Amino acid sequence: MSNITSIQAREVLDSRGFPTIEVEVSTQGVTGRAIVPSGASTGEGEALELRDGDSKRYLGKGVLKALNNVREKIAPAILNKNFSTSSDLDRTLCDLDGTPNKSQLGANAILGVSMAFLRAQALAQGVSTDRLLATQLGTTGSILPVPLMNILNGGKHADNGLSIQEFMIVPLGFNTFSEALRAGVEVFHHLKKILHDKGLSTGVGDEGGFAPVFQGSHPHHQALQVVTQAISQAGYRAGADIYIALDAAASEFSENRNTYYFEKNRLSSNEMTAVYAQWLKEFPIISIEDGLAEHDWEGWVDLTNELGNQCQIVGDDLFVTHPDFLKKGISMKAANAILIKLNQIGTITETLETIEIASQAGYNKIISHRSGETEDTFIADLAVGTNSGQIKTGSASRTDRIAKYNQLLRLEEKLGTQAEYAGTSLFKRFLK
Ligand code: PGA
Ligand code: ZN
Repeated sequence: MSNITSIQAREVLDSRGFPTIEVEVSTQGVTGRAIVPSGASTGEGEALELRDGDSKRYLGKGVLKALNNVREKIAPAILNKNFSTSSDLDRTLCDLDGTPNKSQLGANAILGVSMAFLRAQALAQGVSTDRLLATQLGTTGSILPVPLMNILNGGKHADNGLSIQEFMIVPLGFNTFSEALRAGVEVFHHLKKILHDKGLSTGVGDEGGFAPVFQGSHPHHQALQVVTQAISQAGYRAGADIYIALDAAASEFSENRNTYYFEKNRLSSNEMTAVYAQWLKEFPIISIEDGLAEHDWEGWVDLTNELGNQCQIVGDDLFVTHPDFLKKGISMKAANAILIKLNQIGTITETLETIEIASQAGYNKIISHRSGETEDTFIADLAVGTNSGQIKTGSASRTDRIAKYNQLLRLEEKLGTQAEYAGTSLFKRFLK
Protein backbone atom coordinates (compact mmCIF):
# COMPACT_ATOMS: atom_id res chain seq x y z
CA MET A 1 0.00 0.00 0.00
CA SER A 2 1.34 3.43 -0.95
CA ASN A 3 -0.01 6.45 0.86
CA ILE A 4 0.44 9.57 -1.28
CA THR A 5 1.79 12.30 0.98
CA SER A 6 2.42 15.11 -1.48
CA ILE A 7 1.95 16.13 -5.10
CA GLN A 8 3.78 18.96 -6.81
CA ALA A 9 3.30 20.12 -10.38
CA ARG A 10 5.19 22.73 -12.34
CA GLU A 11 5.51 24.15 -15.83
CA VAL A 12 8.83 23.21 -17.48
CA LEU A 13 10.00 23.31 -21.11
CA ASP A 14 10.17 20.65 -23.80
CA SER A 15 12.68 20.24 -26.63
CA ARG A 16 10.81 22.71 -28.85
CA GLY A 17 10.83 25.37 -26.15
CA PHE A 18 7.15 24.93 -25.35
CA PRO A 19 5.80 24.41 -21.86
CA THR A 20 4.92 21.00 -20.56
CA ILE A 21 4.02 19.59 -17.19
CA GLU A 22 6.34 18.03 -14.61
CA VAL A 23 4.84 16.22 -11.63
CA GLU A 24 6.34 14.97 -8.38
CA VAL A 25 4.51 12.44 -6.25
CA SER A 26 5.74 11.47 -2.78
CA THR A 27 4.94 8.25 -0.96
CA GLN A 28 6.66 6.37 1.87
CA GLY A 29 9.34 9.04 2.18
CA VAL A 30 10.42 8.99 -1.47
CA THR A 31 9.53 11.19 -4.44
CA GLY A 32 8.99 10.12 -8.05
CA ARG A 33 9.19 12.69 -10.80
CA ALA A 34 8.04 12.65 -14.43
CA ILE A 35 7.75 15.03 -17.39
CA VAL A 36 5.08 14.63 -20.08
CA PRO A 37 6.06 14.78 -23.79
CA SER A 38 4.08 16.43 -26.62
CA GLY A 39 3.44 15.54 -30.28
CA ALA A 40 3.20 17.66 -33.45
CA SER A 41 1.64 15.24 -35.94
CA THR A 42 -1.02 14.13 -33.51
CA GLY A 43 -3.77 11.62 -34.24
CA GLU A 44 -7.36 12.84 -34.00
CA GLY A 45 -8.25 10.11 -31.52
CA GLU A 46 -5.56 11.06 -29.01
CA ALA A 47 -6.48 11.96 -25.45
CA LEU A 48 -6.69 15.71 -24.95
CA GLU A 49 -3.51 17.66 -24.22
CA LEU A 50 -4.79 20.60 -22.19
CA ARG A 51 -3.23 23.95 -23.18
CA ASP A 52 -4.20 27.39 -21.88
CA GLY A 53 -4.89 29.08 -25.20
CA ASP A 54 -3.80 32.37 -23.65
CA SER A 55 -1.94 34.06 -26.49
CA LYS A 56 -0.11 36.35 -24.06
CA ARG A 57 1.81 33.40 -22.60
CA TYR A 58 3.97 31.06 -24.70
CA LEU A 59 1.84 31.73 -27.80
CA GLY A 60 -1.14 30.08 -26.16
CA LYS A 61 0.77 26.90 -25.29
CA GLY A 62 1.02 27.39 -21.52
CA VAL A 63 -0.12 24.51 -19.30
CA LEU A 64 -1.29 26.41 -16.22
CA LYS A 65 -4.82 24.98 -16.51
CA ALA A 66 -3.41 21.45 -16.43
CA LEU A 67 -1.26 22.40 -13.42
CA ASN A 68 -4.31 23.77 -11.68
CA ASN A 69 -6.16 20.55 -12.34
CA VAL A 70 -3.34 18.60 -10.67
CA ARG A 71 -3.32 20.94 -7.68
CA GLU A 72 -7.01 21.57 -7.20
CA LYS A 73 -8.79 18.52 -8.56
CA ILE A 74 -6.39 15.54 -8.61
CA ALA A 75 -4.46 16.27 -5.40
CA PRO A 76 -7.54 16.53 -3.13
CA ALA A 77 -8.85 13.23 -4.55
CA ILE A 78 -5.69 11.19 -4.01
CA LEU A 79 -3.69 12.86 -1.20
CA ASN A 80 -3.47 10.80 1.99
CA LYS A 81 -5.10 7.88 0.23
CA ASN A 82 -3.64 4.42 -0.20
CA PHE A 83 -3.11 2.84 -3.60
CA SER A 84 -1.75 -0.66 -3.85
CA THR A 85 -0.69 -0.51 -7.50
CA SER A 86 -0.48 2.08 -10.22
CA SER A 87 -3.51 0.56 -11.92
CA ASP A 88 -5.40 1.37 -8.73
CA LEU A 89 -4.35 4.99 -8.96
CA ASP A 90 -4.87 5.20 -12.75
CA ARG A 91 -8.43 3.91 -12.40
CA THR A 92 -9.12 6.61 -9.83
CA LEU A 93 -7.69 9.27 -12.16
CA CYS A 94 -9.82 8.06 -15.10
CA ASP A 95 -12.96 8.02 -12.94
CA LEU A 96 -12.21 11.50 -11.65
CA ASP A 97 -11.90 12.78 -15.23
CA GLY A 98 -14.98 10.90 -16.37
CA THR A 99 -14.59 11.57 -20.12
CA PRO A 100 -13.48 9.13 -22.84
CA ASN A 101 -10.57 11.34 -23.97
CA LYS A 102 -9.51 12.87 -20.63
CA SER A 103 -10.78 16.28 -21.72
CA GLN A 104 -11.92 17.23 -18.22
CA LEU A 105 -8.54 17.18 -16.47
CA GLY A 106 -6.23 16.94 -19.48
CA ALA A 107 -4.24 13.83 -20.44
CA ASN A 108 -1.03 15.77 -19.71
CA ALA A 109 -2.15 16.38 -16.10
CA ILE A 110 -3.23 12.75 -15.63
CA LEU A 111 -0.18 11.14 -17.26
CA GLY A 112 2.24 13.25 -15.22
CA VAL A 113 0.68 11.91 -12.02
CA SER A 114 0.50 8.35 -13.36
CA MET A 115 4.19 8.24 -14.31
CA ALA A 116 5.44 10.03 -11.19
CA PHE A 117 3.51 7.63 -8.97
CA LEU A 118 4.97 4.55 -10.67
CA ARG A 119 8.46 5.99 -10.24
CA ALA A 120 7.76 6.72 -6.57
CA GLN A 121 6.52 3.17 -6.07
CA ALA A 122 9.69 1.77 -7.59
CA LEU A 123 11.82 3.96 -5.33
CA ALA A 124 9.80 2.95 -2.28
CA GLN A 125 10.36 -0.71 -3.11
CA GLY A 126 14.05 -0.13 -3.77
CA VAL A 127 13.84 -1.31 -7.39
CA SER A 128 14.32 0.42 -10.72
CA THR A 129 11.32 1.46 -12.82
CA ASP A 130 11.98 -1.15 -15.52
CA ARG A 131 12.21 -3.85 -12.82
CA LEU A 132 8.95 -2.78 -11.19
CA LEU A 133 7.19 -2.94 -14.56
CA ALA A 134 8.72 -6.35 -15.33
CA THR A 135 7.63 -7.72 -11.95
CA GLN A 136 4.10 -6.36 -12.29
CA LEU A 137 3.75 -7.76 -15.81
CA GLY A 138 5.53 -11.04 -15.18
CA THR A 139 8.08 -10.45 -17.95
CA THR A 140 11.81 -11.09 -17.77
CA GLY A 141 12.43 -7.39 -18.48
CA SER A 142 15.66 -8.40 -20.14
CA ILE A 143 15.07 -7.61 -23.83
CA LEU A 144 16.86 -4.53 -25.12
CA PRO A 145 14.84 -2.95 -27.93
CA VAL A 146 15.84 -2.49 -31.55
CA PRO A 147 16.24 1.29 -32.00
CA LEU A 148 14.40 2.78 -34.98
CA MET A 149 16.64 5.81 -35.45
CA ASN A 150 15.14 8.74 -37.31
CA ILE A 151 18.22 10.13 -39.07
CA LEU A 152 16.43 12.11 -41.78
CA ASN A 153 13.45 14.27 -40.79
CA GLY A 154 10.63 15.68 -42.92
CA GLY A 155 6.91 16.35 -42.60
CA LYS A 156 5.87 18.38 -39.58
CA HIS A 157 9.25 17.88 -37.90
CA ALA A 158 11.24 19.90 -40.45
CA ASP A 159 10.61 22.56 -43.09
CA ASN A 160 12.37 20.88 -46.00
CA GLY A 161 9.37 20.02 -48.17
CA LEU A 162 9.51 16.23 -47.65
CA SER A 163 6.04 14.73 -47.09
CA ILE A 164 7.35 11.57 -45.44
CA GLN A 165 8.05 12.53 -41.84
CA GLU A 166 10.74 10.03 -40.80
CA PHE A 167 13.48 8.05 -42.50
CA MET A 168 14.82 5.69 -39.86
CA ILE A 169 17.60 3.14 -39.79
CA VAL A 170 17.04 -0.21 -38.09
CA PRO A 171 20.22 -1.98 -36.95
CA LEU A 172 19.01 -5.58 -36.76
CA GLY A 173 21.99 -7.82 -37.42
CA PHE A 174 23.86 -7.28 -34.16
CA ASN A 175 24.26 -9.33 -31.03
CA THR A 176 23.87 -6.55 -28.48
CA PHE A 177 21.99 -3.28 -28.14
CA SER A 178 25.17 -1.28 -27.68
CA GLU A 179 26.69 -2.69 -30.88
CA ALA A 180 23.47 -1.94 -32.77
CA LEU A 181 23.36 1.59 -31.38
CA ARG A 182 27.00 2.19 -32.30
CA ALA A 183 26.31 1.09 -35.88
CA GLY A 184 23.31 3.42 -36.09
CA VAL A 185 25.31 6.33 -34.74
CA GLU A 186 28.11 5.67 -37.24
CA VAL A 187 25.59 5.72 -40.10
CA PHE A 188 24.29 9.06 -38.78
CA HIS A 189 27.80 10.55 -38.98
CA HIS A 190 28.36 9.14 -42.47
CA LEU A 191 25.04 10.60 -43.61
CA LYS A 192 26.20 13.99 -42.35
CA LYS A 193 29.32 13.76 -44.49
CA ILE A 194 27.38 12.66 -47.57
CA LEU A 195 24.97 15.58 -47.22
CA HIS A 196 27.81 18.02 -46.58
CA ASP A 197 29.69 16.80 -49.68
CA LYS A 198 26.55 17.32 -51.76
CA GLY A 199 26.29 20.89 -50.49
CA LEU A 200 23.11 20.07 -48.56
CA SER A 201 22.20 21.34 -45.12
CA THR A 202 23.23 19.31 -42.08
CA GLY A 203 20.98 21.19 -39.67
CA VAL A 204 18.67 18.89 -37.73
CA GLY A 205 14.90 18.63 -37.29
CA ASP A 206 12.78 18.08 -34.18
CA GLU A 207 13.90 14.48 -33.64
CA GLY A 208 17.59 15.12 -34.28
CA GLY A 209 17.75 13.80 -37.85
CA PHE A 210 19.06 15.88 -40.76
CA ALA A 211 16.57 17.97 -42.69
CA PRO A 212 18.10 18.65 -46.13
CA VAL A 213 16.14 20.22 -48.98
CA PHE A 214 16.40 17.89 -51.98
CA GLN A 215 15.86 19.54 -55.38
CA GLY A 216 14.06 17.75 -58.20
CA SER A 217 10.71 16.04 -58.54
CA HIS A 218 11.45 12.89 -56.48
CA PRO A 219 12.98 14.16 -53.22
CA HIS A 220 11.84 11.05 -51.30
CA HIS A 221 13.76 8.79 -53.63
CA GLN A 222 16.86 10.90 -53.04
CA ALA A 223 16.33 10.71 -49.30
CA LEU A 224 16.16 6.91 -49.47
CA GLN A 225 19.27 6.84 -51.65
CA VAL A 226 21.42 8.91 -49.26
CA VAL A 227 20.29 6.86 -46.26
CA THR A 228 21.13 3.60 -48.05
CA GLN A 229 24.47 5.06 -49.16
CA ALA A 230 25.26 6.13 -45.58
CA ILE A 231 24.68 2.56 -44.37
CA SER A 232 27.20 1.22 -46.92
CA GLN A 233 29.73 3.96 -46.36
CA ALA A 234 29.68 3.24 -42.65
CA GLY A 235 30.76 -0.30 -43.57
CA TYR A 236 27.45 -2.10 -43.03
CA ARG A 237 25.32 -4.17 -45.39
CA ALA A 238 22.05 -2.42 -46.19
CA GLY A 239 19.39 -5.10 -46.02
CA ALA A 240 21.42 -7.49 -43.86
CA ASP A 241 22.98 -5.58 -40.96
CA ILE A 242 20.86 -2.46 -41.16
CA TYR A 243 17.41 -1.87 -42.67
CA ILE A 244 15.25 1.21 -43.24
CA ALA A 245 11.95 2.16 -41.58
CA LEU A 246 9.60 4.95 -42.64
CA ASP A 247 7.00 6.94 -40.79
CA ALA A 248 4.93 8.62 -43.49
CA ALA A 249 2.53 10.26 -41.00
CA ALA A 250 0.26 10.25 -44.05
CA SER A 251 -2.68 11.96 -42.32
CA GLU A 252 -0.60 15.12 -42.65
CA PHE A 253 -0.58 15.02 -46.48
CA SER A 254 -4.02 13.53 -47.04
CA GLU A 255 -7.43 15.03 -47.56
CA ASN A 256 -10.95 13.59 -47.47
CA ARG A 257 -9.89 10.41 -45.72
CA ASN A 258 -8.22 8.69 -48.68
CA THR A 259 -6.68 11.22 -51.05
CA TYR A 260 -2.93 11.82 -50.83
CA TYR A 261 -1.02 14.86 -52.10
CA PHE A 262 2.39 13.42 -52.77
CA GLU A 263 5.25 14.85 -54.86
CA LYS A 264 2.80 17.19 -56.64
CA ASN A 265 0.43 14.33 -57.52
CA ARG A 266 -3.03 13.52 -56.21
CA LEU A 267 -3.00 9.81 -55.32
CA SER A 268 -5.60 7.28 -54.16
CA SER A 269 -4.85 4.87 -51.28
CA ASN A 270 -3.94 2.16 -53.78
CA GLU A 271 -1.65 4.49 -55.70
CA MET A 272 0.06 5.55 -52.48
CA THR A 273 0.47 1.86 -51.59
CA ALA A 274 2.01 1.31 -55.03
CA VAL A 275 4.62 3.98 -54.24
CA TYR A 276 5.62 2.00 -51.13
CA ALA A 277 5.62 -1.27 -53.07
CA GLN A 278 8.04 0.23 -55.57
CA TRP A 279 10.32 1.54 -52.79
CA LEU A 280 10.29 -1.91 -51.18
CA LYS A 281 11.73 -3.31 -54.40
CA GLU A 282 14.53 -0.75 -54.49
CA PHE A 283 15.44 -0.17 -50.85
CA PRO A 284 15.88 -2.37 -47.75
CA ILE A 285 12.70 -1.13 -46.07
CA ILE A 286 11.50 -3.29 -43.17
CA SER A 287 8.82 -1.10 -41.59
CA ILE A 288 6.24 1.47 -42.74
CA GLU A 289 4.34 3.49 -40.15
CA ASP A 290 1.18 5.47 -40.91
CA GLY A 291 1.62 4.80 -44.61
CA LEU A 292 -2.01 5.85 -45.03
CA ALA A 293 -4.26 8.30 -43.21
CA GLU A 294 -5.97 7.62 -39.90
CA HIS A 295 -9.52 7.33 -41.26
CA ASP A 296 -8.59 5.31 -44.34
CA TRP A 297 -9.35 1.91 -42.76
CA GLU A 298 -10.15 0.17 -46.06
CA GLY A 299 -6.88 1.46 -47.50
CA TRP A 300 -5.04 0.09 -44.45
CA VAL A 301 -6.55 -3.35 -44.94
CA ASP A 302 -5.40 -3.40 -48.58
CA LEU A 303 -1.96 -2.02 -47.65
CA THR A 304 -1.51 -4.72 -45.01
CA ASN A 305 -2.76 -7.41 -47.33
CA GLU A 306 -0.40 -6.31 -50.07
CA LEU A 307 2.80 -5.48 -48.18
CA GLY A 308 2.29 -6.94 -44.70
CA ASN A 309 4.24 -10.11 -45.44
CA GLN A 310 7.27 -8.10 -46.60
CA CYS A 311 7.43 -5.49 -43.88
CA GLN A 312 6.11 -4.29 -40.58
CA ILE A 313 2.98 -2.15 -41.08
CA VAL A 314 2.71 0.14 -38.06
CA GLY A 315 -0.37 2.01 -36.84
CA ASP A 316 0.38 5.21 -34.92
CA ASP A 317 -2.30 7.86 -35.60
CA LEU A 318 -4.50 4.93 -36.68
CA PHE A 319 -4.51 3.31 -33.23
CA VAL A 320 -3.47 6.20 -30.91
CA THR A 321 -2.43 3.56 -28.32
CA HIS A 322 -6.14 3.00 -27.66
CA PRO A 323 -7.41 -0.53 -26.94
CA ASP A 324 -10.61 0.03 -28.95
CA PHE A 325 -8.89 1.27 -32.13
CA LEU A 326 -6.34 -1.54 -31.85
CA LYS A 327 -9.08 -4.16 -31.46
CA LYS A 328 -10.81 -2.75 -34.54
CA GLY A 329 -7.54 -3.01 -36.47
CA ILE A 330 -6.95 -6.57 -35.34
CA SER A 331 -10.44 -7.67 -36.39
CA MET A 332 -10.10 -5.95 -39.79
CA LYS A 333 -6.50 -7.15 -40.28
CA ALA A 334 -5.27 -3.55 -40.58
CA ALA A 335 -1.53 -3.21 -39.78
CA ASN A 336 0.60 -5.84 -38.04
CA ALA A 337 2.29 -3.60 -35.47
CA ILE A 338 1.45 -0.70 -33.18
CA LEU A 339 3.29 2.40 -32.06
CA ILE A 340 2.93 2.95 -28.30
CA LYS A 341 2.86 6.51 -26.96
CA LEU A 342 1.90 7.05 -23.33
CA ASN A 343 0.40 10.48 -23.85
CA GLN A 344 -1.90 9.34 -26.67
CA ILE A 345 -3.96 7.44 -24.11
CA GLY A 346 -2.93 9.19 -20.89
CA THR A 347 -2.17 6.56 -18.21
CA ILE A 348 0.41 3.82 -17.76
CA THR A 349 -2.28 1.23 -17.04
CA GLU A 350 -4.14 1.79 -20.31
CA THR A 351 -0.81 1.82 -22.18
CA LEU A 352 0.06 -1.59 -20.70
CA GLU A 353 -3.41 -2.87 -21.57
CA THR A 354 -2.91 -1.87 -25.22
CA ILE A 355 0.53 -3.52 -25.26
CA GLU A 356 -1.02 -6.71 -23.91
CA ILE A 357 -3.75 -6.75 -26.57
CA ALA A 358 -1.10 -6.27 -29.26
CA SER A 359 0.99 -9.14 -27.87
CA GLN A 360 -2.00 -11.47 -27.78
CA ALA A 361 -2.75 -10.70 -31.43
CA GLY A 362 0.86 -11.20 -32.53
CA TYR A 363 1.28 -7.51 -33.42
CA ASN A 364 4.77 -6.05 -32.98
CA LYS A 365 5.07 -3.17 -30.51
CA ILE A 366 7.26 -0.09 -30.74
CA ILE A 367 7.56 2.12 -27.68
CA SER A 368 7.82 5.70 -28.92
CA HIS A 369 8.86 9.20 -27.93
CA ARG A 370 7.00 12.30 -29.17
CA SER A 371 8.56 14.96 -31.35
CA GLY A 372 8.40 17.30 -28.34
CA GLU A 373 10.49 15.54 -25.68
CA THR A 374 12.48 16.24 -22.52
CA GLU A 375 15.23 14.69 -20.43
CA ASP A 376 12.70 12.20 -19.04
CA THR A 377 13.73 8.65 -19.96
CA PHE A 378 10.60 6.77 -18.89
CA ILE A 379 10.10 5.19 -22.34
CA ALA A 380 13.49 3.45 -22.12
CA ASP A 381 12.37 1.77 -18.87
CA LEU A 382 8.99 0.98 -20.41
CA ALA A 383 10.57 -0.67 -23.46
CA VAL A 384 12.77 -2.94 -21.35
CA GLY A 385 10.25 -3.60 -18.57
CA THR A 386 7.60 -4.72 -21.06
CA ASN A 387 10.03 -6.66 -23.29
CA SER A 388 8.45 -4.80 -26.22
CA GLY A 389 11.46 -5.30 -28.45
CA GLN A 390 11.51 -2.00 -30.34
CA ILE A 391 11.90 1.68 -29.48
CA LYS A 392 11.59 4.82 -31.55
CA THR A 393 13.45 7.66 -29.91
CA GLY A 394 15.03 9.72 -32.64
CA SER A 395 18.42 10.26 -34.10
CA ALA A 396 21.94 10.41 -32.71
CA SER A 397 21.77 14.07 -31.77
CA ARG A 398 19.78 16.28 -29.39
CA THR A 399 20.02 15.35 -25.73
CA ASP A 400 16.23 14.85 -25.53
CA ARG A 401 16.75 11.80 -27.81
CA ILE A 402 20.20 10.72 -26.57
CA ALA A 403 18.98 10.63 -22.95
CA LYS A 404 16.85 7.59 -23.81
CA TYR A 405 19.70 5.79 -25.58
CA ASN A 406 21.98 6.45 -22.62
CA GLN A 407 19.39 5.02 -20.24
CA LEU A 408 19.15 1.89 -22.43
CA LEU A 409 22.94 1.54 -22.26
CA ARG A 410 22.70 1.69 -18.47
CA LEU A 411 19.97 -0.93 -18.42
CA GLU A 412 21.99 -3.18 -20.72
CA GLU A 413 24.98 -2.89 -18.40
CA LYS A 414 22.84 -3.54 -15.34
CA LEU A 415 21.32 -6.67 -16.90
CA GLY A 416 24.80 -7.95 -17.76
CA THR A 417 24.72 -11.47 -19.15
CA GLN A 418 20.91 -11.54 -18.80
CA ALA A 419 20.54 -8.82 -21.45
CA GLU A 420 19.21 -10.02 -24.80
CA TYR A 421 19.05 -7.93 -27.96
CA ALA A 422 15.72 -8.26 -29.80
CA GLY A 423 17.55 -8.06 -33.17
CA THR A 424 16.16 -9.93 -36.14
CA SER A 425 13.83 -12.20 -34.16
CA LEU A 426 10.85 -9.81 -34.34
CA PHE A 427 11.28 -9.33 -38.07
CA LYS A 428 11.81 -12.95 -39.13
CA ARG A 429 8.46 -13.18 -40.85
CA PHE A 430 9.35 -10.21 -43.09
CA LEU A 431 12.83 -11.36 -44.04
CA LYS A 432 13.33 -13.53 -47.08
P1 PGA B 1 4.71 13.30 -33.13
O1 PGA B 1 5.59 12.44 -34.11
O2 PGA B 1 5.23 13.12 -31.78
O3 PGA B 1 4.89 14.70 -33.68
O4 PGA B 1 3.29 12.81 -33.27
C1 PGA B 1 6.01 11.14 -33.86
C2 PGA B 1 5.34 10.14 -34.77
O5 PGA B 1 4.48 10.50 -35.59
O6 PGA B 1 5.61 8.96 -34.66
ZN1 ZN C 1 4.15 8.30 -36.34
